[in-house]
Amino acid sequence: MTETTPPAVSACPAHAGAVPLSGLQYQQTPSQLYRALRSEHGPVAPVLLDGDVPAWLVLGYAELGYVTSHDELFARDSRRWNQWEHIPADWPLMPFVGYQPSVLFTEGDEHRRRAGVITHALEQVDQFELARDCAQIADRLITAFAGSGQAELMSAYAHALPMRAAVQMCGMPELADETQDLVDDLRISLDANEGDDPVAAYVRVGERIARLVREKRERPGADVTSRMILDPAGLTDEEIVQDLISVIAAAQQPTANWICNTLRLLLTDERFAINVSGGRLSVGEALNEVLWLDTPTQNFIGRWAVRDTQLGGRQIRAGDCVVLGLAAANSDPQIWPEGHVGAENAAHLSFSNGEHRCPYPAPLLADVIARTAVETLLDKLPDLVLAVEPADLSWRPSIWMRGLTALPVSFTPVVQ
Ligand code: HEM
Repeated sequence: MTETTPPAVSACPAHAGAVPLSGLQYQQTPSQLYRALRSEHGPVAPVLLDGDVPAWLVLGYAELGYVTSHDELFARDSRRWNQWEHIPADWPLMPFVGYQPSVLFTEGDEHRRRAGVITHALEQVDQFELARDCAQIADRLITAFAGSGQAELMSAYAHALPMRAAVQMCGMPELADETQDLVDDLRISLDANEGDDPVAAYVRVGERIARLVREKRERPGADVTSRMILDPAGLTDEEIVQDLISVIAAAQQPTANWICNTLRLLLTDERFAINVSGGRLSVGEALNEVLWLDTPTQNFIGRWAVRDTQLGGRQIRAGDCVVLGLAAANSDPQIWPEGHVGAENAAHLSFSNGEHRCPYPAPLLADVIARTAVETLLDKLPDLVLAVEPADLSWRPSIWMRGLTALPVSFTPVVQ
């Protein structure tokens, strides 16, 4: 908060007892906090975002389904937030909460137009080709560290692979430096560390994507960017840049954490180790279990109340911010044990729900990327083990994402 910014919470009696969605305990064991919030406040809890800004966290599975399917009550345009006067321009959550003219913040017919262009462009991605491209990217990344017998998989693999896959889908040349800069800037714009400037990082992401759109206007190819440019909906370059940032950010961060959380599960849970009878639970089961128990996008900010209403027994005022507690809703005791994680059960809310859910066919493409990443790694380095005790793994401080800061592993060096 800047010195001139008035404090946010004091005026709001409904937020008495509100809990910050930050801090070490939250970061390492958010599920404990969600449980405590649920038992104290029920399915909708008062919480504090960075800088003690009040918001509501929706923890209930049914309530989250209600919020995401009632756009007329809970909508996406964050300009209706009743807290903007308390929020400084350099607020850390600004890049993905502050209004941008992108698909993320549009509503109604305009949203259907923009999301339709993305869906059409993604629908034409050939899933077999994508799997082949991902296997090649995985090979190249693994080759870079295979000879050493050790690696830090978050930076060397889990973040790099979906970014390269997304960049390739969008028709950007896979230049190592540019891709790494994009990974860094996207991470900073979501979850800045001390000394990072998230707003500047977001601007750099935009500049890189704008360059791509200009190049594809001149020389279209068989890629997502060109298909968005050529779509009969006739999006402007500015709209395409905004929506491509949303596509790439939405593809990279959650898919990277899906890969990481699945690898962590496979490396730490004996149900996934080969047992005496040679059987083990599959990679597909691990991927699905992660979506239930350690989902990559643990919270999504959010929706803003269109008018005064009620939710989960709470009085919500027009303009209040509602955070989608996707991880909390997946573990709602109201749906367990039926909502349990078996390989086939995809009734989790990890891709959200309703008009703004992760658009078809993005979840299928993400599955191809994550599955290929995990299977290729296990295939190439079959004796992969954690290089630290499981309890020493630490989670990245983030309200949005559930993912590790580092995943150090060791294995028999591969002679090349
Ligand atoms: C190829 C990979 C992916 C692509 C291209 C992609 C694309 C997108 C796009 C464009 C949106 C914005 C939708 C809108 O506002 O209308 C979105 C939203 C979202 N995506 Fe994805 N995504 C990918 C992977 C994932 C993964 C792996 C997860 C988590 C497991 C995920 C979870 C979400 C969530 C929670 C939202 C927010 C929905 C809401 O506002 O209700 N996505 N995604």
